[in-house]
Amino acid sequence: MKILVTGGAGFIGSNFIHFLIGPDNTFQGDFEILNLDKLTYAGNLENLADLSQSKNYHFVKGDICDGKLVESLLQSGVDAIINFAAESHVDRSLYEPDLFIQTNVVGVQVLLQAALRHRIKKFIQISTDEVYGSLPPDAPGFREDTQLSPNSPYSASKAAADLLVRSYFKTYGFPAIITRCSNNYGPFQFPEKLIPLFITNALEDKPLPVYGDGLNVRDWIHVEDHCRAILAVLEKGKEGEIYNIGGDGERTNLEITETILDVLGKPKSLMRYVTDRPGHDRRYAVDFSKIQRELGWSPAYPLKEGLAQTVQWYLRHDEWWRRIKSGAYRDFYQKHYQERLP
Ligand code: NAD
Ligand code: DAU
Repeated sequence: MKILVTGGAGFIGSNFIHFLIGPDNTFQGDFEILNLDKLTYAGNLENLADLSQSKNYHFVKGDICDGKLVESLLQSGVDAIINFAAESHVDRSLYEPDLFIQTNVVGVQVLLQAALRHRIKKFIQISTDEVYGSLPPDAPGFREDTQLSPNSPYSASKAAADLLVRSYFKTYGFPAIITRCSNNYGPFQFPEKLIPLFITNALEDKPLPVYGDGLNVRDWIHVEDHCRAILAVLEKGKEGEIYNIGGDGERTNLEITETILDVLGKPKSLMRYVTDRPGHDRRYAVDFSKIQRELGWSPAYPLKEGLAQTVQWYLRHDEWWRRIKSGAYRDFYQKHYQERLP
């Protein structure tokens, strides 16, 4: 099976490619992977450097909004598309919403249209639980039929893409599936998201900026569990369906922060309460019983173990994150942090 993976140089995409290829180049199946990635600030070929000699893996630098390029790639006989490509950071979407609409909405439409024309047999849109909005404290987790109520330009752009995907299935019978996963953590996550930012800031003895009261809740899932779920959807998922994916790992941001500081043996005094994120969703929790029941998938990583392993990964990959943090990202982060100081 030849798969076009878009956004494969980012966090989840690069983990998924590694997952498919396996530790000793022993593929999980008979796959050939074509990775189309624009290499934005979040795309990093270092994440895939070990695969440069693999004969079943090819990289193409380019934009999913470039219809001609996408068409030319599909002409090479692609069987399935898995779309990871996106602007993925909620905080950035508050500053540059137009970029999010371009990639997350227009880009998805370009992919859908080209895929329809080339009769692609399976299209998986990697969406997010954020499209459902925010849950009250005791409410049950998001189900696939929970109303869409996105609260940030990021989540609104992902919800818009989901509606486009749905419309291609309803109108053209296009074989699309949507997955909606909760917050991922693990190796190769760009150090702008909560867990890698706090691990690396703590290692540098820099402040850990906790938004608001720190009591917002996220459902954390190890990226490898997410990759296993995507493979299950690729192999057994039903066209036109939505599958929620969750980690059964609800924690407040304060709990996550304290665990990271404990694992690293760093003092709580590194925590700094800063101005809250505008429109900050209070709680996410995911009911993933559908994928459990229908595709036999469940999360396997206990959060405590997964977090400790992730901390070890960042300790061992010091050069990887230090290079990112000392590059262009530093200016964005410093401006953003200064603006948040009370
Ligand atoms: P990421 O920001 O780490 O990676 C995104 C990748 O997409 C980068 O390699 C980037 O270069 C590429 N890209 C961006 N714009 C592009 C374009 N126009 N054309 C081609 N490539 C482009 O993101 P991530 O955390 O790996 O998320 C991947 C997907 O999973 C996204 O669609 C995101 O919405 C979704 N998701 C993420 C999480 C999470 O916790 N990180 C949870 C649920 C769903
Ligand atoms: O739920 C899935 C989503 O999870 C994905 O769709 C997004 O792509 C991904 O970025 C993530 O979104 P969040 O906004 O939940 O993730 P983030 O890591 O940015 O923030 C997690 C929580 O931590 C959130 O409540 C905000 C808080 N936070 C975050 C940062 C970066 C802080 O308190 N301080 C910080 O510096």
